[in-house]
Amino acid sequence: MKNVLFAASEAVPFIKTGGLADVVGSLPACFQKEYFDVRVMIPKYNCMAQKYKDMLQYITNFYMEYNGQNTYVGIFKAEWDGVTYYFIDNEYYFSGNSPYTSDVKWDLERFIFFSRAVLSALPLIDFHPDIIHCHDWQTGLIPVYLHDSFSAGEFFRNMKSVITIHNLKFQGTWDVKTVKRFSGLSSYYFAPDKLEAYKDANVLKGGLVYADAITTVSRTYAEEIKTPFYGEKLDGLLRARDHDLRGIVNGIDYDSYNPETDTMLEKTYNQKNFRKEKIKNKRALQNQLGLERRDDAFMIGVVSRLTDQKGFDLIAYVMDELAQDDIQLVVLGTGEEKYENMFRHFDWKYNSKIRANIYYSEELSHRIYGSCDAFLMPSLFEPCGLSQLMALRYGTVPIVRETGGLKDTVEPYNEFEGTGTGFSFTNYNAHEMLGAIHYAHNVYVNHRREWNKIIDRAMQADFSWNVSALQYQEMYDWLMGW
Ligand code: ADP
Ligand code: GLC
Repeated sequence: MKNVLFAASEAVPFIKTGGLADVVGSLPACFQKEYFDVRVMIPKYNCMAQKYKDMLQYITNFYMEYNGQNTYVGIFKAEWDGVTYYFIDNEYYFSGNSPYTSDVKWDLERFIFFSRAVLSALPLIDFHPDIIHCHDWQTGLIPVYLHDSFSAGEFFRNMKSVITIHNLKFQGTWDVKTVKRFSGLSSYYFAPDKLEAYKDANVLKGGLVYADAITTVSRTYAEEIKTPFYGEKLDGLLRARDHDLRGIVNGIDYDSYNPETDTMLEKTYNQKNFRKEKIKNKRALQNQLGLERRDDAFMIGVVSRLTDQKGFDLIAYVMDELAQDDIQLVVLGTGEEKYENMFRHFDWKYNSKIRANIYYSEELSHRIYGSCDAFLMPSLFEPCGLSQLMALRYGTVPIVRETGGLKDTVEPYNEFEGTGTGFSFTNYNAHEMLGAIHYAHNVYVNHRREWNKIIDRAMQADFSWNVSALQYQEMYDWLMGW
């Protein structure tokens, strides 16, 4: 059996703030079970829903030297969807009401603790991974530790590491002195060809230097991050590691996101009957949110973390123009205050057309994917993006900016050839975005048969994990010489 351990800061269904959780919680179940045993390790957050906390089974505990103190580490376990999950417990570090805080230094202390604890816990569980697959900066020190202190033990010899970049913007950066103290790594590691970047210590950089292979979540993003615009100051390093870097596009869980069986929808539907049935969801959502009950208003959905990554500045810029059209805009998201307030403001100003739902709701997200005519995602950058895949799955036509995974997963409509699954625009420009929305709206109003064919193709596109899980398997095989 080939053993792989995912180490990450979030995984559905236990804890989720964004797409990382969807990936870590759905990909492991999609490997070929006769060859691969893929398990997952995440922190045991106190903010997990009670029903998941109740599922956890205590395994053991130990004490680990950390930041000058003898620190408690508990290990818990749960099975979900045929996959084993391990949880690292320490109430001091993981008792907050969200996985991340706005205090970078504190998060560094917490996740460096987690990274050390993951490796220290391994000899105590009944699982010996051949590969540790790390995700984002929170687990960036694992490859460094594997190279350093942990390489001495027989148990860790030949263990390889992979790191996947889900978002290069977050790197876990603080002054060298502090990170040295938290990590316990020697001065040797804090040089510009290792963890140091622009005088500070950079935890993700450590992972990118020491991991045996690097992946990111779409082919286009894998190219983009080698350029200064998208490279977040690490493009040089990524160019240097080009040979070990590959882009593997994300999939989504086709069972959790399935319009035919989704119990959160008012009315389920499929590729055959969406023409008649999908509209019932739109009506229900209009009712639920107190929007005008109109079948032909062009309903646009947004489900997103509200950060500048997602391109909301473009929406702000043309909102007054867009609001003149016969549209309805339904937003679900939380994040930066300026965007939360911006959407609240538009909700107030154009109350008959716009709804800002500034909270987190799994259920409303499904209802938006299943009800809207179009789904807007004008990202400034997008490593992969899962929301547009969910929209495609539900036959809600994506309107996206051609960047990262959005470019790789949404095929722009071509009216001459009758191809395409959505609409897109190239430049980060508000009127280009508005042009794409108007084009989509026009097809929706004046060429409904064509519009329905777009939906048909969107629902037919396959972004389940089937293909991508095989690509991960190939990468593991290449890495291990299997
Ligand atoms: P990112 O990981 O950058 O946030 P993705 O598109 O990869 O973007 O994934 C976002 C995930 O988070 C999707 O599953 C989306 O439905 C979900 N999501 C984002 N905001 C909310 C919210 N307010 N309520 C429910 N789900 C949300
Ligand atoms: C990150 C990215 C998003 C990607 C997700 C899962 O949060 O912002 O584009 O889909 O990770 O890989």
